[in-house]
Amino acid sequence: MEFFLDTAIIEEVKEIADWGILDGVTTNPSLIKKSGRDFKQVVSEIAALCSGPISAEVTALDAAGMVEEGLQLKAELPENVIIKIPCTPEGLKATKVLSGQGIGVNVTLIFSASQALMSAKAGAMYVSPFIGRIDDTGADGMDLIAEIMNTWDNYPDIETKVLAASIRHPMHMLQCMQMGVHTATMPTKIFKMLIKHPLTDKGIDGFMADWAEVEKAGNA
Ligand code: E4P
Repeated sequence: MEFFLDTAIIEEVKEIADWGILDGVTTNPSLIKKSGRDFKQVVSEIAALCSGPISAEVTALDAAGMVEEGLQLKAELPENVIIKIPCTPEGLKATKVLSGQGIGVNVTLIFSASQALMSAKAGAMYVSPFIGRIDDTGADGMDLIAEIMNTWDNYPDIETKVLAASIRHPMHMLQCMQMGVHTATMPTKIFKMLIKHPLTDKGIDGFMADWAEVEKAGNA
């Protein structure tokens, strides 16, 4: 499973990339706003820290504008940058054009299995269903992930990867792992919650205390 980081904060990318298990990074216009940095500059810096796919989102709403922005981003930014496009009819058209030119596209803001399959048909490298935002409406975002994974099982030739997004807590990740989701993008705090276990900490404390006794006895 690929682990992506969902942020545009350079310090967070550095911190998690240092763990050695970071496969990619996703950004969006809201995350760029939160960073307070120049869009292209920050994406370039992220792309230098992580060799995996770095998603940079277009802001045009028409296909021609999306294609133009996508081509410009590909021309100006490092090779590992892929283009994030919203799941609309215009987005499908742009995905078809860009993927036809060998450019990686992450189709975002997916809220149904049909949207996911249509995006795959347009040539998306990734489709991004948003779990947490469905939970926010009172429905269960994991049901959507299950529907998409079942659909993918029905059509084994699909090469598009399912990228679980809008992950809000560790249970989302655990369920994604059990469903065989290809990729998930998480905020830094979820990476930290997933690696933390009180019994690991307690075990280390116990071993350290006993080792201090071993040293004291001159047996180290
Ligand atoms: C994914 O690519 C999006 O950037 C992200 O996961 C959205 O998450 P949010 O719903 O927490 O904003």
